[in-house]
Amino acid sequence: MTRIATFVLAAAAVLSNASLATAQAPAGAPPLSLFPSPWGQGSNDGWDAAYEKARAFVSNLTLVEKVNLTTGTGWEYDRCIGNTGSIPRLGFRSMCLQDGTVAVRYTDKNSVFPAGINMAATFSRSLMRRRGEAMGAEFYGKGIDVALGPVAGPLGRVPAGGRNWEGFSPDPYLTGVGMFETITGMQSSGVIATAKHYILNEQEHYRNNVDVTIDDRTMHEMYLWPFADAVRAGVGAVMCSYNKINGNYSCENSWTLNYLLKNELNFQGFVMSDWGAQHSTVESALGGLDMAMPGDGGARGNVYGAFWGGALTEAVLNGTIPAWRVDDMAVRIIAAYYKINAISGSKPRPGINFSAWVKPNVTVGPIYFRANASIEPVNLHVDVQGNHGALIREIGAKSTVLLKNKDDKALPLHKPGRIAIIGEDAQDAPGGPNACEDNKCYRGTLAMGYGSGPGNFPYLVAPATALKKRAAADNTTVAEAPSNWDLDAARAAAKGADVAFVFASADSGEGYITIDGNTGDRNNLTLWGNGEALIKAVASVNPNTIVVLHTVGPVLIDYAANHENVTAILWAGLQGQESGNSLVDVLYGDVPPQGRSPFMWGRNISDYGAEVMYMSPTPFAPTQNFSEGVYIDYRYFQHAHTHSVYPFGHGLTYTSFYFENLTVHPYKGQAAVTAAPPSKSWTAPAQTYGTINSSMAANTDPTGFQRIKPFIYPWIIRAANASWPFTAPKAPSIDVRTNSSAQAVLPAGGAPGGNPGLYDTVYTIGFDIRNRGNTTGTAIPQVYVQLGGDNPWGVLRGFDDVSVPGYGHVHIEMNLTRRDVSNWDTAKQNWVVTDLPKYVFVGYSVVDIALNATLPPLNL
Ligand SMILES: *[C@@H]1O[C@H](CO)[C@@H](O)[C@H](O)[C@H]1NC(C)=O
Ligand SMILES: *[C@@H]1O[C@H](CO)[C@@H](O)[C@H](O)[C@H]1NC(C)=O
Ligand SMILES: *[C@@H]1O[C@H](CO)[C@@H](O)[C@H](O)[C@H]1NC(C)=O
Ligand SMILES: *[C@@H]1O[C@H](CO)[C@@H](O)[C@H](O)[C@H]1NC(C)=O
Ligand SMILES: *[C@@H]1O[C@H](CO)[C@@H](O)[C@H](O)[C@H]1NC(C)=O
Ligand SMILES: *[C@@H]1O[C@H](CO)[C@@H](O)[C@H](O)[C@H]1NC(C)=O
Ligand SMILES: *[C@@H]1O[C@H](CO)[C@@H](O)[C@H](O)[C@H]1NC(C)=O
Ligand SMILES: *[C@@H]1O[C@H](CO)[C@@H](O)[C@H](O)[C@H]1NC(C)=O
Ligand SMILES: *[C@@H]1O[C@H](CO)[C@@H](O)[C@H](O)[C@H]1NC(C)=O
Ligand SMILES: *[C@@H]1O[C@H](CO)[C@@H](O)[C@H](O)[C@H]1NC(C)=O
Ligand SMILES: *[C@@H]1O[C@H](CO)[C@@H](O)[C@H](O)[C@H]1NC(C)=O
Repeated sequence: MTRIATFVLAAAAVLSNASLATAQAPAGAPPLSLFPSPWGQGSNDGWDAAYEKARAFVSNLTLVEKVNLTTGTGWEYDRCIGNTGSIPRLGFRSMCLQDGTVAVRYTDKNSVFPAGINMAATFSRSLMRRRGEAMGAEFYGKGIDVALGPVAGPLGRVPAGGRNWEGFSPDPYLTGVGMFETITGMQSSGVIATAKHYILNEQEHYRNNVDVTIDDRTMHEMYLWPFADAVRAGVGAVMCSYNKINGNYSCENSWTLNYLLKNELNFQGFVMSDWGAQHSTVESALGGLDMAMPGDGGARGNVYGAFWGGALTEAVLNGTIPAWRVDDMAVRIIAAYYKINAISGSKPRPGINFSAWVKPNVTVGPIYFRANASIEPVNLHVDVQGNHGALIREIGAKSTVLLKNKDDKALPLHKPGRIAIIGEDAQDAPGGPNACEDNKCYRGTLAMGYGSGPGNFPYLVAPATALKKRAAADNTTVAEAPSNWDLDAARAAAKGADVAFVFASADSGEGYITIDGNTGDRNNLTLWGNGEALIKAVASVNPNTIVVLHTVGPVLIDYAANHENVTAILWAGLQGQESGNSLVDVLYGDVPPQGRSPFMWGRNISDYGAEVMYMSPTPFAPTQNFSEGVYIDYRYFQHAHTHSVYPFGHGLTYTSFYFENLTVHPYKGQAAVTAAPPSKSWTAPAQTYGTINSSMAANTDPTGFQRIKPFIYPWIIRAANASWPFTAPKAPSIDVRTNSSAQAVLPAGGAPGGNPGLYDTVYTIGFDIRNRGNTTGTAIPQVYVQLGGDNPWGVLRGFDDVSVPGYGHVHIEMNLTRRDVSNWDTAKQNWVVTDLPKYVFVGYSVVDIALNATLPPLNL
């Protein structure tokens, strides 16, 4: 019963709270879905100094200059995927926002990194951090201010979700660590990171209008969790998503933006819309949006061709949107900018040195692409790759999951006499790796998915290339069968080979692209391109068949797992440019595999409980209820007692480990059951910065200004005979969202990421790891917690990557934080440690548990 306390009840509890009395709307009870808009305050983790500078900067701006920061200049009008307006008077250039999630999109001389899902598979905080740093450096070097990643939405509710590979894992704890480390790394390189897509954008079908219903507890314990880690890492930007949540579009949803993100999680940066996800002028401003991207579109009825730009200026001058709300937008944007610049030091940022719209193999082209204006060198081909290739190769190898290794001896390889390389997924694509924009063709080896996440490959090492190189060095004979459909050729190549490698893949991506009938989301969980038949054909003739999978997530491989002739299965995921080299490093034992599966491998798609909604009975108003609650991926398998083919956390290596001697202690000094309330329980009242000049001259195009034709500008367009001035701005009083009085800080809030007490250590865990073999290997001990009552059997709450020398042993200490052992209490609107008995498990995977202990109760 406690599980599905609805959001409506929770909301009622909050609005009846006397501490929020000052935030009541003046007349009539506000609809329960409306929450006041918190203004940025700063915080002592780096935001304070940035806020001080930002307030001074914004105090100096006119209304139209502030509006310029909030509104993109339009799709394909300037050089980046998104550009804000500029402030020429102060020499502040347009901010450049750029995709993608594995590479800088639409340029050259950049690297292509392993996908987010591979990062999750490394279970390595340090590799996540290093990839973030390297990616951040590449964006920074191209003159980009805001990188549009990483991804925690989709989380991975449905296994066939098209963009799951851009995120990390359907486990929120693992995704949260991925977000924290990636953002910390990226921002340390001087680029604003963007946590996206906020929130519940779990599938591509109907992503533009699906209305998702979710209960408050599931929201907190699953989907919001990794965004809390992102905010705690100091992320500068959050991108709201296309879908609706509990009735309101994400980009004007005052519950998710104002109440959860800006109040509870205390987010100090700015919220930008996904491209075209804004649906209103006033509702989005009051609902918590700070930046409209790409700026144009949507508002076809108005003279601005945009919901903001001049329309936002009008709405402030006519009193509909309070001035403090636009000031808050500007301060949040500039504060994020200063926060990241403070990190990069005093050296000037590189200028924007590429155009997303002029093909990278062309140098000269228009700065203003749609206007075809200012023709000059736009693609300066700045090489930002550094030595990232080595890191990419290392991550590729260390994210490879060895799912099966028959009798522990199929791998590693030792100079086999003859190998066969079978399947198109081992080979270069005809036309090269960049033959299809946004990777929208399914050809050759798969090293990233499709959509806006990919970028151009500088090169792509196909598995066949790397294997043949190694074979040449070893005097190994090679037979190849590159077709997935010519099964006779496959069998002929495989027959008699000492090792038959068979490669297969499954792709997915963003919903604006359809490949083989798959509109972003996969239509099924089977392999693509005849992969299953190919594996079966090879295994029917070769007793040492090794299956290599490049897939965007789980595929159904029961037949291979149980096949006597399939001696090894490796999931290589999407490894980026060094794909083949990374694979060979693992196959030959140069790098022992350390990857662990970041998701469950089911026997049927129905094993996962939740599925993509492919066909809505109401396609113009599709709805989805996340009624499975917290039960997705392994939580669902365990709840339903379903056996998997391979479980979450599973992965073999070339040695084996033994865990023993578990100890658990409450951490002294942190034993209180609930976190102390935030030290500051009220904010200051909303502030405005500078004064507004409401004259016509101050708010319309300056005399003689030459517009770049399609650009979105902040100035008001008046019909020639229209009157001026506007009716004097009156105190806006639409509802709670326009109230500028001091606001109550939520008990679960108080600092970026939520109440700092949530991150206090409350238990320390110790155990020993013994390496039972004679070679060094990396153990990935996993800590699961059972919170008692009707909670999932266990939830991941800790992991480590520990290198242990042959026959060596290592002692490990891990901490559990208050958040790790809490449940979200909808009535209290806070995290609580219940008094239900709780257990801790240390395992090799979610089903292979080595050790357990009860968690001693925390003192009252
Ligand atoms: C305000 O703008 C003027 C130029 O118009 C400049 O001299 C001054 O430094 C600016 N102040 C701040 C705080 O940016
Ligand atoms: C707004 O930005 C545009 C595009 O960068 C620029 O041309 C214009 O001068 C800016 N307006 C103001 C008021 O600074
Ligand atoms: C104020 O301006 C906004 C934006 O143009 C418009 O949507 C709204 O209707 C206007 N309100 C009044 C009272 O004029
Ligand atoms: C640039 O690349 C495109 C493919 O993206 C190709 O069609 C075109 O021929 C190339 N142009 C030059 C000048 O190489
Ligand atoms: C490969 O074979 C050649 C002759 O067959 C021999 O000279 C060479 O040493 C071999 N190399 C390796 C690495 O075994
Ligand atoms: C699953 O989808 C892939 C890609 O479209 C297709 O190749 C395969 O045949 C489908 N599997 C089934 C069982 O329909
Ligand atoms: C395994 O391979 C052998 C050939 O070595 C073949 O005779 C046998 O039928 C295969 N097993 C299966 C289940 O296909
Ligand atoms: C576990 O504890 C026992 C007793 O203290 C000790 O002998 C053993 O070495 C420990 N195991 C490991 C792997 O350190
Ligand atoms: C390690 O163990 C394997 C198998 O037990 C054995 O073949 C190998 O010789 C050993 N290597 C060393 C360096 O002891
Ligand atoms: C555990 O938490 C304590 C207290 O915050 C901290 O001093 C210690 O370094 C942490 N240990 C680990 C392994 O993170
Ligand atoms: C906990 O470990 C003990 C052995 O120490 C074992 O007997 C018991 O079954 C385990 N309990 C669970 C729930 O795994």
